[in-house]
Amino acid sequence: MTAVLEIQGLQKTYRSRKGVRRALDGFDMVVEAGQVHGFLGPNGSGKTTTLRTLLGLIRPNGGRMAILGREVPAALPEVAGSVGAIVESPQFFPNFSAQDTLSLLADAGGVDRARVFEVLELVGLRERATDRVKTYSLGMKQRLAVASALLKNPKLLILDEPANGLDPGGIREMRTLMRNLAESGMTVVLSSHILAEIQLICDSVTIIAAGRRVAAGAVADVLAQHASSSVRVRLESAADLPASAGFLRQLGAQVTVETDHLMVSGLERPSAITRVLAHNGLFVSELSPVSVDLESVFLQLTGTAPVEGEHRQVDQTVMAPAGPAQGGWGH
Ligand SMILES: Nc1ncnc2c1ncn2[C@@H]1O[C@H](COP(=O)(O)OP(=O)(O)O)[C@@H](O)[C@H]1O
Ligand SMILES: [Mg+2]
Repeated sequence: MTAVLEIQGLQKTYRSRKGVRRALDGFDMVVEAGQVHGFLGPNGSGKTTTLRTLLGLIRPNGGRMAILGREVPAALPEVAGSVGAIVESPQFFPNFSAQDTLSLLADAGGVDRARVFEVLELVGLRERATDRVKTYSLGMKQRLAVASALLKNPKLLILDEPANGLDPGGIREMRTLMRNLAESGMTVVLSSHILAEIQLICDSVTIIAAGRRVAAGAVADVLAQHASSSVRVRLESAADLPASAGFLRQLGAQVTVETDHLMVSGLERPSAITRVLAHNGLFVSELSPVSVDLESVFLQLTGTAPVEGEHRQVDQTVMAPAGPAQGGWGH
């Protein structure tokens, strides 16, 4: 596999009247070709800063980055044609249709007009293509933005929080679109603070917290490496739970006492649980492994609960497309 995107030791410090903020603190990231790669982290962890830096919109304080094997920002002019990105809220003329909008962008970027119909088809806007943008749902506007980023048929598509503000239907459509693009051979990087998004559609993931990478790899591997598996333990008598917890803690286990069971983690073999409890005259009536999801790993790694339903306010109906949504990349 070849890395489509490589970031090493990226540093970014913002200086403002409020003081100095280290947004990226030696951040690393590698994305292989043909994957849907999730860039996951709580709000404020440095995702947008990373993507903006990568696209040459802001200047890093240190580190190196490469897109398609070429060092950026130096080689940006050469690779720009292979990268589609949406890192700002997409904004379009409300009185233009999707077809008008894309035709305008295609002409401006020297892209064949036939491609307009291809991308409309790809993002599922063909039937509404001649309706005005102001009649579109947020999800449709988001897909129009993706369509505009797809015009030049990029090898790498970068989307910053594409699910933000979408309803479940819109999220599902976006998800299908991402998968279809990946199947067509495109590499897709999408950031999110919503874990479920990443877990459902990504092949691999980079988790960022406080400007540093805290985990990376195939979603399944990240789970396997970082989730210490837990076991639910019930006893014949619930009255024995506190005493049992004590014995298990002596073994080095982490134990939570619930009303009718214990949650035990940090032990290599669950058989140790039955052995020590039976040895002390306490008998186990249930011992079941509890499957861990990315959510608990995310919590454990970032110390932050991913907040569902918390969205940046985006008003996509106003303003003109002063050069399209692809901040800095043009067509
Ligand atoms: N222009 C800026 N000036 C000062 N601080 C900033 C600026 N942009 C972002 N930050 C700070 O940098 C950190 C990372 O922000 P950001 O990259 O937007 O995170 P994310 O996209 O993961 O939510 C945050 O603490 C944020 O407040
Ligand atoms: Mg962001």
